[in-house]
Amino acid sequence: MPLPKSVLVVGAGGREHALVRALLGSPAKPRIICAPGNAGIAEDVPCFPVAADDIPGLVALAQKEKVEFVVVGPEVPLALGLVDELLKLGLPVYGPKADGARLEASKIFTKQILLRYRIPTATAAFFREVAPALTYLRHRPAPIVIKADGLAAGKGVVVAQTSAEAEAAVRDLLGGKFGASSSQILIEDCLYGEETSQLVVVSGRDYVMLPTAQDHKRIGDGDTGPNTGGMGAYSPAEVVTPALLERIEREIVRPSVEAIADEGIDFRGTLFIGLMLTPAGPSVIEYNARFGDPETQAVLPRLATDLLALLWAAARGELGGFKLEVKPDYALCVVIAAKGYPEAYPKGDVITLPPAASLPPATCIYHAGTAKNSAGQLVTNGGRVLGVTALASTLAAAAANAYAACDAVACRTKYFRRDIGARQLNRR
Ligand code: AMP
Ligand code: GLY
Repeated sequence: MPLPKSVLVVGAGGREHALVRALLGSPAKPRIICAPGNAGIAEDVPCFPVAADDIPGLVALAQKEKVEFVVVGPEVPLALGLVDELLKLGLPVYGPKADGARLEASKIFTKQILLRYRIPTATAAFFREVAPALTYLRHRPAPIVIKADGLAAGKGVVVAQTSAEAEAAVRDLLGGKFGASSSQILIEDCLYGEETSQLVVVSGRDYVMLPTAQDHKRIGDGDTGPNTGGMGAYSPAEVVTPALLERIEREIVRPSVEAIADEGIDFRGTLFIGLMLTPAGPSVIEYNARFGDPETQAVLPRLATDLLALLWAAARGELGGFKLEVKPDYALCVVIAAKGYPEAYPKGDVITLPPAASLPPATCIYHAGTAKNSAGQLVTNGGRVLGVTALASTLAAAAANAYAACDAVACRTKYFRRDIGARQLNRR
């Protein structure tokens, strides 16, 4: 099948801006549109005001605009069955159906698969009632991890340092903190080590591993403060040595892809495996059924392969034998957030971006939570506002360039971590 001539990208974040930019770079020169997009994506391609969770609206848009391919960014439309609806129309889609999205939407479902197929992961137990959960806690010393079963925008996990904290988390979650998402919980043993993100493009039993990456989940420098969606990322993650990567593929990636297929799920999309590199070996923390944000902003600029060809091959079931080409350069992405994120933060603050010509080489500013106000000014419109990514021959140069661009962004409420990449830089 020739490559599609028109593509709809669904989503509104930095991840989707990076996807749009990479797809625009395809030699096939497709027409790209996005829904709903953001102020930066709208400068690159036409954006349509259909929300990412409006399934009938997105289906109607795909038909009206006669797109030949849909690429879905976020987890919510995946879990709501957007892909199932589009496939009924005969439209090729990159992203799993609702059955595959369940790997992210239900942590209990995923844990059962991991345990059944003996894929390394932390020991866990599942509960619907407070009393048995508290009894179980008495036999598991803190630190211990309490997780809501369902989607909770990255806030449904508590790594409890004391038994009191663990008990409070159990009561909170089962008490309805996230509604139906926390009507069931997992209590999981704590894993220790460095975390890495392994993105895998999957098509049934075929897969292509994307370059390694590490995220920075905490809001503060030195990995302090509350968890966020991710404050910055870099690729490659050198903590994953070639030998370790081979082990990750052998013990985790291949068995995961096989297990999902054995479960009868025809998964065509990104399997994002969150890993803990424990002293005993790599262990699965979670699966996501989509590209990571901000990992994608650091991974895609390193691909020398046409992203459109890769995603199209996966969607069409033609991924077998696909050869991925990766640039030797390092990419580093610093997320600029609105001060206050991940708690309450202001919206509508004016942002002044440096002129593109003044940016350091191979440095770009992906938009996430941005919009235009009634006066046509660029303003903040979300917790994570921009993702500043630089590509360079060393990680240090990528960091220097990304930070120079961050400093040149003017916004009264801008906040970003100063230490993205520091762990790898300091290891040398
Ligand atoms: P999740 O939503 O499952 O990715 O969990 C969010 C974060 O909680 C992870 O990125 C880890 O930092 C932490 N976490 C989750 N599970 C564990 C675990 N078993 N041991 C230690 N940390 C964990
Ligand atoms: N950066 C982590 C995520 O996308 O869930």
